[in-house]
Amino acid sequence: MIRILFVCLGNICRSPMAESVCRDVLAKEGLAEQVVVDSAGTGDWHIGESPHKGTRHILDQHNMSYEGMQARVFAESDWEQFDYVIAMDAKNIADLEQLRSALQNVFVARLMDFVKTPKKHDIPDPYFTGDFNETFELIHEGCTGLIRHIKDKHDL
Ligand code: 4NP
Repeated sequence: MIRILFVCLGNICRSPMAESVCRDVLAKEGLAEQVVVDSAGTGDWHIGESPHKGTRHILDQHNMSYEGMQARVFAESDWEQFDYVIAMDAKNIADLEQLRSALQNVFVARLMDFVKTPKKHDIPDPYFTGDFNETFELIHEGCTGLIRHIKDKHDL
């Protein structure tokens, strides 16, 4: 089983969107049983909340599920629970690096690192930009690239 954790700041806009989009990509590739997906935030303001209404709206438009998702904070134990920790932007990476000890050699990258010629390296935060469409398009591209990478790497 391969385990992916998406990380953003609040865990209500981008990382739950990535979690849902990634599950959809995996289901379409017939890989739902081989890869587990979750998400978390580095900040604790929204613990227990459902995804933001802008994220829910765009996922509804694409028939992608966010059922049961509740915001949570990244935990120390996540370093043991996941094989891939995938951040939305450089600030998330910096925050994660603060939480990581030298012993925790989990693969950490930005989602757009999996896109060959990305329009942007950081996924803009729609909590501030209000543009959930742009974020969705980038996340979809990123998740497609990430799953392509995982398929190659793990011979799936
Ligand atoms: P996210 O967006 O990191 O994509 O979930 C944010 C949501 C909430 C806040 C910041 C970013 N906030 O400051 O409350």
